[in-house]
Amino acid sequence: MPDTLNAPLATPPGLLEALAELLGPRGMLTAPEDLAPHLSDWRALYRGATPCVLRPAETAELAAAVKLCAAAGVPMVPQGGNTSMVGGATPDESGRQIVVSLSRLNRIRALDPVDLTMTAEAGVVLKLAQNAAAEAGCLFPLSLGAEGTATIGGVLSTNAGGNTTVRYGNARELMLGLEVVLPDGQVWDGLRRLRKDNTGYALRHLFVGAEGTLGFITAATLRMFPRPRDTALAFCAVADTDAALALFRRFRDRDESAVRAFEYMSGAGVDFCLKHIEGVTLPVETRAEHYVLVDLASPRPDAGLREMAETLLGEAMEAGEVLDAVLAESEAQAQKLWKIREEHPEAQKREGASVKNDVSVPVSRVPEMIRRCSEELTKLIPGSRPVPFGHIGDGNIHMNLEQPEGMDPAAFLARSHDIMDCVNAVVREMDGSFSAEHGIGRLKTDMMPEWRGGAELDTMRRIKAALDPWGLMNPGKVFF
Ligand code: FAD
Ligand code: MLT
Ligand code: ZN
Repeated sequence: MPDTLNAPLATPPGLLEALAELLGPRGMLTAPEDLAPHLSDWRALYRGATPCVLRPAETAELAAAVKLCAAAGVPMVPQGGNTSMVGGATPDESGRQIVVSLSRLNRIRALDPVDLTMTAEAGVVLKLAQNAAAEAGCLFPLSLGAEGTATIGGVLSTNAGGNTTVRYGNARELMLGLEVVLPDGQVWDGLRRLRKDNTGYALRHLFVGAEGTLGFITAATLRMFPRPRDTALAFCAVADTDAALALFRRFRDRDESAVRAFEYMSGAGVDFCLKHIEGVTLPVETRAEHYVLVDLASPRPDAGLREMAETLLGEAMEAGEVLDAVLAESEAQAQKLWKIREEHPEAQKREGASVKNDVSVPVSRVPEMIRRCSEELTKLIPGSRPVPFGHIGDGNIHMNLEQPEGMDPAAFLARSHDIMDCVNAVVREMDGSFSAEHGIGRLKTDMMPEWRGGAELDTMRRIKAALDPWGLMNPGKVFF
């Protein structure tokens, strides 16, 4: 008998017993030590409570569990890898919300190298989906720092971007069909793998980026691509942010299809990696204030990407844009270079308290945005350290701010809202977005009325009310 049955909760009588009977011992966690990892987020911004964590292993099991919860009027919080940057997968403190982990729905149901499609269940870890595609001689291109933990259901529910959006699009663009358990427990089988399908409203797109507020994604048919047969990777010290953008244009204008990723890093962010991450060394001789990583890939074995990179970097050096550069000589070296970029979130965490600003502006305005935000932020909190980095080719920079050295982290975090407001004011003037890829979750609900109010938020609320009239799916997220 689960020990939470005696806990002081408002869970309707009989519900936990019915769920335990339906899901069995592996399908329902109740011991406090088993619940703990599901109750806080990667950034440790929130700590919630739940009577149990459900872990269904089949879509039908999940559907039956949802029916039980819906009949009892109990709210549910979908959880994948729990890597949300905005507290999206964390239950609130009431102890009423039941966490539903998709981690046991983790099969790859089909993989077709002719259609270039893969049908994966929601709990498949992104890295494993990439590996499965590679074993079949294909590429599943979505790539981000949390790929060893984040799941297919999670990346679709947040419409994650990551490093390869510049070439392959966000998670949404990689999705052809979905299977969903709706808030009343009905199963919608929309796992079509068609490239063209104009049959009424494209329902599948409603669930992408919905952050679990409209239903549970249980499986998805994903687009794959031919595997790259020629690659090149350059780590460059550049003169400034204008030079970083100019270099992006050089590569994009020469061969847009070859630019798989183009990432910006500030000197501060790279220094934090050198200081905190084992095995990271500066790969160029010049210590700079600005760096970029240029990742090229082509399915053509004779694409000549290394030669192209050498030529363009040579031209950029003559133009004074690039100060120093190194090209990876091997796959192992390429992984080392990528590590410097991928470890930015972890290195920032280890340096102390930081506030994240996942913003986007038109690509052409990125240098101005970084400059202006950095100036405003250091005026707002003297001694604070701006750490802009990220997906410059998409206009999406993580305009993060690290606490001043020696400052009390709590005192710094107490200024979070001032910091976000400061960045958002600049971004707004540039017709940008206050959340480019991490979503709204719980952290940014208060920004929605100001940024997406009027007809836009009203329409979102009506869609929510139509699909989830009882408000049981991930309450307190996206809307407040
Ligand atoms: P969770 O964190 O578990 O959930 C995220 C949201 O989706 C929640 O609202 C949850 O309720 C909902 N959800 C999860 N699964 C389902 C489902 N099956 N059905 C319905 N709703 C569901 N994001 C980027 O876009 N780009 C990046 O480059 C990037 N880098 C990151 C680097 C690090 C180190 C970390 C920790 C995170 C990073 N993220 C990035 C954040 C990103 O949102 C997540 O990594 C990923 O998209 C979430 O996947 P997850 O499985 O962990 O989902
Ligand atoms: C990344 O791109 O590494 C994350 O999305 C950014 C962050 O941690 O702020
Ligand atoms: Zn990112």
